[in-house]
Amino acid sequence: MHTMRQSEELNRINSAFDNKLRPTDFEGFVGQAKIRDRLMLAVQAAKDRGESLDHVLFSGPPGLGKTTLSYILGEAMGVNVKTTSGPVITKPGDLAGLLTSLEPGDIVFIDEIHRMAKTVEEYLYSAMEDYAIDIMIDQGPNARSVRLELPRFTLVGATTRIGLIAAPLRARFGLVNRLDYYTPPELAEIVKRSAAKLGVDIDDEGAAEIARRSRGTPRIANNLLRRVRDYAQIKAGNFITGDVAKDSLGLLEIDPHGLDEMDRRILETICVKFGGGPVGLSTIAVSVGEEPDTIEEAYEPFLIMNGYMERTPKGRVAAPSAWTLLGIAPVSRQGELGI
Ligand SMILES: Nc1ncnc2c1ncn2[C@@H]1O[C@H](COP(=O)(O)OP(=O)(O)O)[C@@H](O)[C@H]1O
Ligand SMILES: [Mg+2]
Repeated sequence: MHTMRQSEELNRINSAFDNKLRPTDFEGFVGQAKIRDRLMLAVQAAKDRGESLDHVLFSGPPGLGKTTLSYILGEAMGVNVKTTSGPVITKPGDLAGLLTSLEPGDIVFIDEIHRMAKTVEEYLYSAMEDYAIDIMIDQGPNARSVRLELPRFTLVGATTRIGLIAAPLRARFGLVNRLDYYTPPELAEIVKRSAAKLGVDIDDEGAAEIARRSRGTPRIANNLLRRVRDYAQIKAGNFITGDVAKDSLGLLEIDPHGLDEMDRRILETICVKFGGGPVGLSTIAVSVGEEPDTIEEAYEPFLIMNGYMERTPKGRVAAPSAWTLLGIAPVSRQGELGI
């Protein structure tokens, strides 16, 4: 998939910068208060009992803090975090090798867990539940299964596509957490903390300008901050005010509402091609050339949260602010005249 590869590429480019700005404890982690409280409680309880932490699943769009929380859990529990990702584990042996190398209590972080091979997933079930894994060795008449006992470990899974997680896998996670987009004040707080780490001054207006264009996403906020910092350093005495942020983001042609290209194409499809809707998800998907699941899980929540569109029983409908955004007059639909 084109967009999939693009986002993987971006992830690689961003990872070094992510690491530098990544909070290492719960105090440094802004927002997602319910999830944070729940995890802190689980950590405390596990530590008090001297047990390993329950298996944890994080879902949500890219850049909202899934990887960050996984490492914070490792720090808080005082255990090692071994990181891998779904597409890397192709054979049961890969999984066995990883799990048998653990110390008791260790965290195994599987990123993009929805992309793990189905044949491997079944081995994971018994590993998660019984802390054992049955591996077939040899072939033909000598084939036999050997049971490997595993240390009590914690599996932390992350996925951008919760809809692709099979029910039996999902059911084996004690803590299932859906991360949501961040509010502008939360993003502004993240921007301020990141600015302090980067050694650049910023005022409230500067942080608010960056937050507003960040599409509810800390990773985007940090990336925009990095660009604005370059500008501030060269042109504004290393101090980011509202005007400095506005000027530099304008120069970079960053959308003032934080929408990306796919967001706009979805809204254009509903408004221009289908007269404001209602239009079905699969029709939108074909029209913009993206998978329905991706639209539903990665794009719509942001558009709905920001009041650009609604889901109705008959399909997706554009909200008035979508028309304003696109700068076109709404098509009036029958029965809605004169409202
Ligand atoms: N709640 C948060 N508070 C502060 N920084 C955050 C928060 N969530 C994410 N970040 C920052 O955003 C970047 C991306 O987060 P990451 O955990 O890699 O996202 P994901 O794994 O969900 O794609 C990191 O640099 C991280 O420091
Ligand atoms: Mg991640």
